[in-house]
Amino acid sequence: MFEDLLRRWEGEEAVIHYEAESDAWMFVCVHSTALGPGGGGTRLRVYPTPADGLADAMRLSGAMTLKMAAAGLPRGGAKAVLAVPELPTGHARRRLLLRYGDLVESLGGTYRTAGDMNISPADLDVVAERCRWVYGTSAGGGNSARGTALGTLHAIRATAEHALGTSDLAGRTVLVQGAGAVGADLVRLLLADDANVLVADVDDSRAATTGATVIPVGDVIGTECDVYSPCAVGGILNVDTIPRLRCRAIAGCANNQLAEPEDADRLHAAGILYAPDYVANAGGVLQLVGLEDLDWSEEELEQHLAEIGDTLRQLFRESADHGVTPDAAAARLAAERVAAGRATAWS
Ligand code: NAI
Repeated sequence: MFEDLLRRWEGEEAVIHYEAESDAWMFVCVHSTALGPGGGGTRLRVYPTPADGLADAMRLSGAMTLKMAAAGLPRGGAKAVLAVPELPTGHARRRLLLRYGDLVESLGGTYRTAGDMNISPADLDVVAERCRWVYGTSAGGGNSARGTALGTLHAIRATAEHALGTSDLAGRTVLVQGAGAVGADLVRLLLADDANVLVADVDDSRAATTGATVIPVGDVIGTECDVYSPCAVGGILNVDTIPRLRCRAIAGCANNQLAEPEDADRLHAAGILYAPDYVANAGGVLQLVGLEDLDWSEEELEQHLAEIGDTLRQLFRESADHGVTPDAAAARLAAERVAAGRATAWS
């Protein structure tokens, strides 16, 4: 029920619009503007019920607050969901996206969007016909995969430094799960670092084109490696897989790698260093917000991507000093930044 969800949610504002013509629900959830306007992608999906779509937008918007804060961006967290009876195509899709553009424009920049599941740069081009607050359009450079891949490389180097005593990846074995937009680019960067790269993808041909050593998807969890880099799906670190991992550290770009919060404790107890996913994969938002909204140069972007490594070094130190998981240290860092930002006005 919408009422229960809205009462329980600790976010700032949920905007709900129902489009009778297409039977589509639009949910824009602005979780926090303490650090700046709320940023986060738009997800187009079929949900069992509209309330499931609203719940997803609420949950994801909270995660964006953590990601933006941990990345040090002057942006809050938000997310939008377009919950549809079936994925629209052609004219119906265009009409829905234009109407959605009107909705986001009406919020005056409090919510700034980009792509997410089932929303491509071409879709964002349509939204941008009606709305100023759109990033990741074709004109703006499209996909954020290159920033995410480079940021993840910095995360892997920092994680190796703490777990293995060196950030030099030459001769180290890194297992990349998923050779998609980010994973394939990451493999290329790792090979340039002279790492011994293993790669697995449900699409074998994708894995093969990376030039790394291909391993079967079913072997990912039990394969020995120095760093395991999940770059495909969420929930892969769980009560079943963690005891079977044969890696020293984990740093990858996939969202929501932990199936449940307790998995951070399980990894800690197993002596596996875990780079919190939303810290490691912040390169995408740094690229989109930095280049398209904050007018950074490419050099400034590169500097901020490298800071992902610095943030992780700080979190690993805090984790070691205070006996907490890196995940808990990251949550605390983000919460402190949000609390500090709450008093500061933005425009
Ligand atoms: P993508 O869809 O281009 O690539 C995912 C790849 O994983 C595909 O090649 C797919 O065949 C493969 N795959 C799916 N299930 C698999 C499995 N069980 N084992 C092995 N391979 C599997 O996605 P993209 O853009 O590369 O993103 C990867 C992950 O990173 C996703 O979780 C995404 O949410 C996350 N992410 C991506 C960002 C971006 O800028 N693209 C930013 C932040 C997070």
